[in-house]
Amino acid sequence: MKIINVVGARPNFMKIAPIMDALMKHNQLLTSSIKYMLVHTGQHYDEKMSKLFFDDLRIPKPDIDLGVGSASHAEQTAEIMKKFEKVCLREKPTHILVVGDVNSTIACALVASKLSIKIIHVEAGLRSFDRSMPEEINRVLTDAISDILFITEKSAEQNLKREGVSKDKIFFVGNVMIDTLLKHKEIAEKSDILNELHLERQNYAVATLHRPSNVDDPVILREIFNSLNEISIKLPILFPVHPRAKINIDKLNGDFIGNITFCDPLGYLDFLKVMSGSRFVLTDSGGIQEETTVLGIPCLTIRNNTERPVTVLQGTNILVGTKKEIIVQEAEKILKGITRENKIPELWDGKAAERIVDILVSSPKETKSLNA
Ligand code: UD1
Repeated sequence: MKIINVVGARPNFMKIAPIMDALMKHNQLLTSSIKYMLVHTGQHYDEKMSKLFFDDLRIPKPDIDLGVGSASHAEQTAEIMKKFEKVCLREKPTHILVVGDVNSTIACALVASKLSIKIIHVEAGLRSFDRSMPEEINRVLTDAISDILFITEKSAEQNLKREGVSKDKIFFVGNVMIDTLLKHKEIAEKSDILNELHLERQNYAVATLHRPSNVDDPVILREIFNSLNEISIKLPILFPVHPRAKINIDKLNGDFIGNITFCDPLGYLDFLKVMSGSRFVLTDSGGIQEETTVLGIPCLTIRNNTERPVTVLQGTNILVGTKKEIIVQEAEKILKGITRENKIPELWDGKAAERIVDILVSSPKETKSLNA
């Protein structure tokens, strides 16, 4: 078995870190060794969107960096495909492993599929049922051509079966992003970021936005900022700015009356500390919905749907859409101390990557795979 692990964009890094770790440990402990390497497509390339995460999470330096950078979706996807095909032809992997739902995920999966290389998809089966989201297209297409599909929550099994994926390809292993969170929670507490940003534990909220549907449309962005302004009069807000959002926030002409502090994107450990210390989080990110659920921090998701329903059904997540009235109303409930009971979703216990490697070497130990 020779696996090429693929990463490309920021949310991929916290997912690949525990998998690389589990592969390394497997090879150290057992006689059967798996050959593996790491390819970075370069979809995200800024120091603060990429290198910082390799440093914080101690991910080994990629064996190959395709250096594709930013472009339109078609150009970016095509460029990754052209470069990744050459890597596959040279390295001759038996498998490629892709995570999540970014352009790098589908681009590399498509290349592998045409070369008859087996595809492993980690975080398969999540569905927002909103085909206007680029990620939804990436998810559906990647799952359709994957051979081994690792899922984080049970809703994914129904989604995949509905789309005709055979049950014996699906394995319920838990959530690798949560492996990373649990491993780094204590280390993150040492970060000095709250002092640096003059934040007082429990006395601020954190907001992040980057979805094209929210940040590319000036009318929606203004409506969201009107709500953030209003909330920030009662509770200061920290807003780490994603490069995509920056362009349009700058166009709002600093037209903010509230108490919002903007900062550059934060590294993993600093952001984990900021999130853990906050009263609540407002976001349109997928991963943050999961992380806040495990941290027990209320999360208001500024979207009309989520591909991660377990965070709403069992966790701390509330979908608030993009209208000011609802966003402010839900924030006020939290400020009045009205929060819900929450529990940690099944198998989000820090061992997902170990289960993945166990299944890949076909010796599932205590693994609750759906097809076992
Ligand atoms: C991508 C993913 C999204 C994920 C997000 C996390 C797709 C379709 N989208 O969205 O699912 O939630 O990453 O961040 O794959 N840019 C920089 N520096 C960088 C990277 C990007 O300045 O290191 C700027 C560029 O102007 C670029 C824009 O950000 O055009 C958007 O980057 P891109 O990778 O296309 O998509 P994201 O919006 O980051």
